[in-house]
Amino acid sequence: MKILFFLDTASIDDIVYWNNFGLVDGVTTNPILLSKESGNAYSHLKKICSIIKGPVSAQVTEKDSSKMIEQAKKLKSISKNIMIKLPCTLEGAKAAKIISKQGYKINITLGFEPSQYLLFRNINITYFSFIIGRMEDFGKSNIENVYSISKFIKKLNPKTKLLSASIRNGEQLTHALLAGSEAITIPPSTWKKIFSNEFTISGEKDFINSWDALSTNRKKGYEIKK
Ligand code: E4P
Repeated sequence: MKILFFLDTASIDDIVYWNNFGLVDGVTTNPILLSKESGNAYSHLKKICSIIKGPVSAQVTEKDSSKMIEQAKKLKSISKNIMIKLPCTLEGAKAAKIISKQGYKINITLGFEPSQYLLFRNINITYFSFIIGRMEDFGKSNIENVYSISKFIKKLNPKTKLLSASIRNGEQLTHALLAGSEAITIPPSTWKKIFSNEFTISGEKDFINSWDALSTNRKKGYEIKK
């Protein structure tokens, strides 16, 4: 199974930067992330879709299902790689039921406990986003639940893919991977944290310090310089 890594951002600079490392199979935006960028949100999403060929999630901002459907139609017109992000609510489920029959790709977001998936078991959604990090903001852990939601989805509707979201550190990422997530969305700040591991940085420093202490003669021929 190929696991997809999405970038949880709306920043073009971050998308371009992390895409160079092969870590952007798709992008998940949300209203908070879009609000951090300048300019018109519709045009901004269009630009993201011109850079990334994989799925780009665009989240509805309407609360009522009929308006969500109307907005989904607008957002879908941005590009063929747009995936409509709907909330894990009763209204979200009503909208998902209708647009799933019209060929929309759907990402259900804000899933905080496995049983919430029951609303969607008979609906053709592509991703169910299970939120891990944000739960810790409320002093609770969702790490164990990621294993349950993964089993749950496989039992109830294997066509749905588990998308682990709101990943704040390497430990959460590891659990999301071990639990069998088919996609994981990571914010640029988390990649930065993971790839600037303090022991890697101090280890590199130790090696270089030891090397620098050697005489020029002992280093001759080994180094690129002199
Ligand atoms: C998921 O649908 C959201 O875009 C995102 O993962 C939420 O992350 P946050 O908790 O860091 O806001």
